Amino acid sequence: MPSAPYQEINPPQRILLGPGPSNVHPRVQQAMMAPVLGHMDPYFYTVMEDTMSLLRYLFRTKNALTFPISATGSAGMEAGLCNFLEPGDVAVIANNGFFADRMINIASRCGAEIIRLDAEWGRIIEPEAIEAALKSQKKVKLLALVHAETSTGVLQPLTEAAQLAKQHEALFLVDAVTSLGGHEVAVDDWSIDICYSCSQKCIGCPPGLSPITVNQKAMETLKKRSHSVSSYYLDLSLLSKYWIRDGSRAYHHTAPASMFYALHEALVLIADEGLEARIQRHAEHGAALQAGLEAMGLVLHAQPGHRLSTLTTVCIPEGIDDARIRQRLLSDYSMEIGGGLGTLKGKVWRIGLMGYSSSEQNVLLVLSALEKLLADEGYKTETGAGIKAAVQSLRK
Ligand SMILES: Cc1ncc(COP(=O)(O)O)c(C=O)c1O
Repeated sequence: MPSAPYQEINPPQRILLGPGPSNVHPRVQQAMMAPVLGHMDPYFYTVMEDTMSLLRYLFRTKNALTFPISATGSAGMEAGLCNFLEPGDVAVIANNGFFADRMINIASRCGAEIIRLDAEWGRIIEPEAIEAALKSQKKVKLLALVHAETSTGVLQPLTEAAQLAKQHEALFLVDAVTSLGGHEVAVDDWSIDICYSCSQKCIGCPPGLSPITVNQKAMETLKKRSHSVSSYYLDLSLLSKYWIRDGSRAYHHTAPASMFYALHEALVLIADEGLEARIQRHAEHGAALQAGLEAMGLVLHAQPGHRLSTLTTVCIPEGIDDARIRQRLLSDYSMEIGGGLGTLKGKVWRIGLMGYSSSEQNVLLVLSALEKLLADEGYKTETGAGIKAAVQSLRK
């Protein structure tokens, strides 16, 4: 029997400018308070149908199988890989960041033979490297790229890669965890076969769901598998029997109703704003933040021309204490930014402007807070230079 006097939960209000989760719109928060329904309730089916149709708008696809997996982004990644790869299959996978590395890890657990597309962390994978890898083996089953690499701040171009995958009859899988809802992701126009994301970043919902879309071509390949999918929970053929309405729906697992309400509301907010306007908002705020950081004399980590607007990686100046700055942002301003991951630990900060957190107010707040805290640490910069550059960028 626990004996401590446990308290009512009362987390602080934070400004979430890290790699995710981002802040949640009050309407999304409110939606989670709606009555919980059973996963076979007729009203719940209408929520599911609307969610699928709103997700098709977001992914820019007509794919019938477009739905949220009941788990975080990593489950989307795992579903995308474990359904389509079996022992002995060959997969060509990016190797230029923390999440690309996670894809390699999962694909190797599926027993696939992996051809790594190496590039420095902070640089894109060039189409020439993709072509060479696809040509190097007899039959590549799947090409997998991270569209928005959250560890490095790089936006990977996809259209040439998609063409190459098509030419070589490989399935094309894209991780859009940090891009969907903040950058353009055009699944059908770009010939992406499998694409997944998460709820907690540019969609502006709490963590817990992983929207995924899979086209018919990819679903057909499932019928040719020689082993059943090792994961029951993420088996797309089983999941599709609950999500695709063809007379009846079969129970697969108990749907997390409150999370589905939240996602539904977040997607309605996106539709109200309009996808193009939303992407433009992310672009303007990302550009203003980056202009401000550079005007403060800071160096951006990601390859110029291929920077995310949703997540900016900035190099930590010599002699500045990474942890102390992030701790003071939290204690003095109740503001979260991210530290570096993997090989970039201690080398960069990751500043996210995603979903509801992508606002003019937050750009100006994080720049002024950083200027003050860096000055306290002895970093020399012209007072107000960051804000001035950001304001100029926003006026454009
Ligand atoms: C690009 C990318 N892929 C996959 C993931 C894993 O998502 P989650 O942490 O929601 O499981 C993340 C998480 O930040 C990510 O940034």
